[in-house]
Amino acid sequence: MLAHATTFAIDGVEPRRVTVEVDVKPGLPAFSIVGLGDRSVREARERVRGAISNSGFEFPQMRVTVNLAPAYLRKHGPGFDLAIACGVLAASRQVPAAALERLAVFGELGLDGKVRPCNGALAVAEGVLRAGLEGVIVPWERVAEAAIVDVITVGGAGDLASVAAVLRGDAAPDRGADVVALEPQDASDLADVRGHAGPVEALIVAAAGGHNVLLSGPPGTGKTMLARRLPSILPPLTPAEALEVTRIRSIAGMHSGGLVRTRPFRSPHHNTSTSGLIGGGSLPTPGEVTLAHHGVLFLDELSEFPRNVLEALRQPLEDGRVAVVRGQHIAVYPTRFMLVASTNPCPCGFHPERRCRCSEADLLRHGRRLSGPLLDRIDLLLAVGRPSADELRAPGVTSSAQARDRIAQARERQLARLDGTGATCNGHMDTALVRRLVRLDSDAERLLHATYERGALSARGRERVLRVAMTIADLDARDTVGKQELLRAIGLRQDATTAPEEAA
Ligand SMILES: Nc1ncnc2c1ncn2[C@@H]1O[C@H](COP(=O)(O)OP(=O)(O)O)[C@@H](O)[C@H]1O
Ligand SMILES: [Mg+2]
Repeated sequence: MLAHATTFAIDGVEPRRVTVEVDVKPGLPAFSIVGLGDRSVREARERVRGAISNSGFEFPQMRVTVNLAPAYLRKHGPGFDLAIACGVLAASRQVPAAALERLAVFGELGLDGKVRPCNGALAVAEGVLRAGLEGVIVPWERVAEAAIVDVITVGGAGDLASVAAVLRGDAAPDRGADVVALEPQDASDLADVRGHAGPVEALIVAAAGGHNVLLSGPPGTGKTMLARRLPSILPPLTPAEALEVTRIRSIAGMHSGGLVRTRPFRSPHHNTSTSGLIGGGSLPTPGEVTLAHHGVLFLDELSEFPRNVLEALRQPLEDGRVAVVRGQHIAVYPTRFMLVASTNPCPCGFHPERRCRCSEADLLRHGRRLSGPLLDRIDLLLAVGRPSADELRAPGVTSSAQARDRIAQARERQLARLDGTGATCNGHMDTALVRRLVRLDSDAERLLHATYERGALSARGRERVLRVAMTIADLDARDTVGKQELLRAIGLRQDATTAPEEAA
């Protein structure tokens, strides 16, 4: 007899429906799985056979053929076990086949019949919703995660026997606990930062417009400290963004057990490999750029990162997504993050103070290291100098709560202006959008013209200045960029100690 079970494969971060066809026919006992599965899918045979016979069922002594359709889709990981086992049980009339057609099942099996947790349950539940199926059964440990999606029935299962009981109608799917929204835990506040009125305000501009930023300054002045306080001022994730972020974490095996509400902040070490950063590997997993999607990618001590690793950031930065090629398969991962980087102005860290001991050649090499693909995409260059002794004694210039309010209002203006364009903040505006949406008053127009004519700006620099100026206007609740906003935006490009664009 032929039976069908439904499950989902994860392609990049997208769920793709997979139909598991199981045919049980008289003949010499055999068990084969076809349909472009990787090794762990082929090994499912042993797990499924063991799980069935150790759960009080009979593994059919016949020819059992399993086909995972569509055949063109590459399937990896052990999440197909449960669907294969249910298909075998239905094809050998041990559970009703009709019940299996209404539900999707997802999970790894142990030889003893236990259902083990596996990655991506949230994506599977989203797939179930899109496919219009009645519900889904996932491993018990993942039911809270799958229940984030409004699927009619979400059930957690601890073992194959209880999945069979649900299919026979003997038991209701176990719904588990209610969905929890995770609250931010990090308590670090912008008020901890002393002095740095300029850099703090610039960081607020960066957060308000989603602009990429480079913090440059001597060691120990608070660059890392500033960057780490970004999550406390960024606007909360929208519901759709929260779902996407939670899904990505689930696929990467970083289970949260609830909906993630704060923007991701990823700070990969400079030893991270290209595939760790970009994604890929033998079992395709999202890299840091994807884990930072809708949040911040922080590259601390930028010049420590190998050049080829930085080069690999070009595509994710430009396109907002990255294609990882593995054999004949391409996995696409989303990568819309805000890049924040920090650097010393020179190898010893004290340029341009007199204490700097670097040679001309050192400085040149350092500048070259920093130039290139990344700097092209950086909107704001911030010089972080040494705070004065008085400043260190005084309280911080602003609290995260105050900054967050201003930023949230500025974002709302942007969302309204950018509605329908695909961009959600000024930092994501391309050339065409800048031209269409950034309005200057006549004073600002004249100033921009003069600055450009003087050669103080490149064409690309001009566009960046306009994006940032628009954000400054948004923070001031203004619709047009005036002379003041423009001047401040130009300042935020040029006050870095090593304006690396020129140094390169
Ligand atoms: N402006 C500042 N306000 C308060 N503390 C500071 C400041 N700058 C540095 N510090 C202190 O020095 C430590 C090191 O700062 P850090 O951010 O790591 O510097 P950097 O990354 O620039 O080398 C911080 O953890 C903090 O305790
Ligand atoms: Mg640091």
